Amino acid sequence: MSTPRIRKAVFPVAGLGTRVLPATKAMPKEMLPVVDRPLIQHVVDEAREAGIEHFIFVTGRNKGVIEDHFDRSVELEENLKGSGKAQLLSQMRHISTLANFCYVRQSEALGLGHAVLCAQRLIGDEPFAVILGDEIIDAPVPGLAQLIHAYKKRHGAVLGVQEVPHQEVNRYGIVSPRAMTAGLHRVEGLIEKPAPAEAPSNLAVIGRYVLPPEIFPILRKTQPGKNGEIQLTDALRELAKKSPMYALEVQGQRYDAGDKLGWLIATVEFALKNPSLGPDFCDYLQNRMRPSGEHRTTRSRKA
Ligand code: UTP
Repeated sequence: MSTPRIRKAVFPVAGLGTRVLPATKAMPKEMLPVVDRPLIQHVVDEAREAGIEHFIFVTGRNKGVIEDHFDRSVELEENLKGSGKAQLLSQMRHISTLANFCYVRQSEALGLGHAVLCAQRLIGDEPFAVILGDEIIDAPVPGLAQLIHAYKKRHGAVLGVQEVPHQEVNRYGIVSPRAMTAGLHRVEGLIEKPAPAEAPSNLAVIGRYVLPPEIFPILRKTQPGKNGEIQLTDALRELAKKSPMYALEVQGQRYDAGDKLGWLIATVEFALKNPSLGPDFCDYLQNRMRPSGEHRTTRSRKA
C-alpha cells in the first residue's frame, strides 16, 4: 500500500511561554537563541532535513518577529555584501529561501490541540507533521525523519516518544504502549500530565507527531481538559480508538528548551559542539568549575 508523502508541517508557536518569563513577555519563546540560531530555526532545519516542503506556523501576539526571521532582510544583506562578509550573507539568504512559509493566527492561547486545529485549512486532506518549537532533538538522523520512516512502514499516526524519569511523567503526555518491535509500540491510550501513580508508562510524547487529517474533526469536538486547554493528547486518545497509532522511541538527545534549565543545558551542549566556539568555551568551563582558585570570567575577541 502506498502512503501519501508528508509534505507539510505545523509549528504551533502561539503559546505564552510562561516558564521563561520575563524573557518571553514581549518576545516569543521560539526566538530564544541556542548559540546563534533561534529555537525555531533548529526545528525548521530538522523538518527541512526530513523532507518537509510547506511550513505552517500557528502564531499569536508578539510573534511577528518569527515571520521577520524567515523573511529576507534586504538592508542587512546589502550591508553584509558591502562589508565582504560572504559567508554570513549566504547564511542569511539561506534562511529566507528555505521553503514555503505560511502563517495562521491563533487569536487566544486555548491549548496545543486548538493551535493544531487552526492549521486545518492550510493542511487540507493529507497527513502532516507537527513539531513543537521548544523541543530540540540533536540526532544523526533528524527526529522527524525517524517518525516519517516509521509512518511509511506502518501507515498510521506516529508519535515521537522517549523515556523520562518516572517522577517527571506529570510534565508530559504519556502513552499506554504495547511493544511491537524494538523501539516501536502500538498506542493503546494516552494521558496528559498524569500523576506518577496513574501513569501507564514512562514513555513521554516529545513534540514530534505525524498525524492523519482525521484528527481535525476530533479536535473540533475536543473539550478543554487539563489546565482548561484543548489538549492534543485528548484528541489523540480518541483517534487511537479509531485507527492504528504508534509510538516511536526517537533516537537522539532531546532538550526541553522551553524551560529555563533545559534551555541552559541545550545552550551549553550546542556551544561545546560548535567548531569555532567549542574549544574556548570548554576551556572556560573547565576553568570555571575548578573547586578553588581563580577563574577567568571575561574575554574579548572580535570575530
Ligand atoms: P507549551 O505548554 O510547552 O508552551 O506548549 P507554552 O504554553 O508557550 O509554555 P509555558 O508552559 O507557558 O511556558 C507546547 C507548544 O505549543 C504551543 C507553544 O507555543 C509551544 O510551542 N502552543 C501552546 C500554542 O501554539 N498554542 C497554545 O494555545 C498553547
